[in-house]
Amino acid sequence: MSAIPVSDVDLYTPGARADPYSIYKELRALGPVVHLSRYDLYALPRYQEVRAALMDWRTFSSARGVFVDPDMNAQLEGITLCSDPPEHTAMRAVLGRPLRQDRMRDVTPTIEAEAERIVAELVERGRFDAATELAEHLPMAVVSDLVGLPDRGRDKMLEWAAAMWDMQGPANERFTKAAPMVEEFMGYVVHEAVPGRIDPDGWAANLHQAADRGELPREKCPALMLDYVTPSLDTTILAITNAIALFAQHPDQWDLLRADRSLIPHTINESLRLETPVPQFSRVLTEDHEIDGVGLPAGSRVALLYGSANRDERHYPDPERFDITRRPSDHLAFGRGEHVCVGMHLARVEMGTLLERLADRVSRFETVSSRPLLNNGLRGLEHLEVTVSV
Ligand code: HEM
Repeated sequence: MSAIPVSDVDLYTPGARADPYSIYKELRALGPVVHLSRYDLYALPRYQEVRAALMDWRTFSSARGVFVDPDMNAQLEGITLCSDPPEHTAMRAVLGRPLRQDRMRDVTPTIEAEAERIVAELVERGRFDAATELAEHLPMAVVSDLVGLPDRGRDKMLEWAAAMWDMQGPANERFTKAAPMVEEFMGYVVHEAVPGRIDPDGWAANLHQAADRGELPREKCPALMLDYVTPSLDTTILAITNAIALFAQHPDQWDLLRADRSLIPHTINESLRLETPVPQFSRVLTEDHEIDGVGLPAGSRVALLYGSANRDERHYPDPERFDITRRPSDHLAFGRGEHVCVGMHLARVEMGTLLERLADRVSRFETVSSRPLLNNGLRGLEHLEVTVSV
């Protein structure tokens, strides 16, 4: 059996959070599995192995958490993201009900109206922050409404969600700073986001109604609310911002999209492939396992580097090129298998609708300034000032 290559790179420095791609390349070159000695983590940096792991939940379990820090993994045990079938299947069925593809027609008219409104207003202004003023709008206006939390929750949703993501990395400074906010969020979902105070027609209330029908244990409701709030906002906000940044850098690709709107679904996939908002989750091996001649012991935590797999030169020719005609529908930015993103249809509707409305009105984006988000669990830009020409 081959020896496992070891690397002491740190994926959590500010530099690596902003631009991890040279590190990913180094890791891919080292082998199909690399031991990250700083965090005692085995990383899978290449496409084939990440995809295979996602399709094999019996060996690569989510039930002991999918993050880095052992305490955080213990604390969030039992949310949908951190569970295996059959518990996972039951929770996902309830959680995913309003997010199914066939339910998107319920939310599309609101999303379209909001997209039209915000794009018209911002294009009229000619200069805006695409991260906060454009990309935040739909998730905040539409999704927070659909979840139906009481007012204080809505105001703090973004802050709490970002803190949850910061606690998905190792216990570094960002993690420690986020801890009190996460505690506040947990308190809120248990004590304040309760029937009588949540919108009776919202997704959060659906969870309690499902518990009334015996479809899931009542005590799971707060945890499942975390599943709605944490992954639904920043992910989509970053995905939209990343797409605009790519089009500002590649005006030829924007011309292509404007000339042929059928490229929009491929554009969504290509921008998510190239600038993956959730760069990694992890799994724990339930048994000894061999990957390409490398043996890993049961109990090992294995990081699935989605952001690296999506740029694997073994799978995508010329992977760093932004090419909206590429059609990379097999990218791993939404994961795969049992835990494939349950909100991906909603994210696609939000992204697709905004791109449609922008294509109606904007001929060019120019970047004025940008700033990367530094977060332990997410990647993208927190600020992207652009000017637009009509
Ligand atoms: C572009 C936007 C998004 C990206 C890049 C993204 C990414 C991901 C990824 C990579 C996973 C897989 C987790 C794993 O492998 O363990 C996932 C799962 C999940 N996502 Fe998303 N997501 C997005 C939008 C959303 C939205 C809008 C929602 C909710 C409204 C959502 C809710 C969830 C939930 C609940 C899970 C857990 C599913 C399960 O464990 O079965 N996501 N997402």
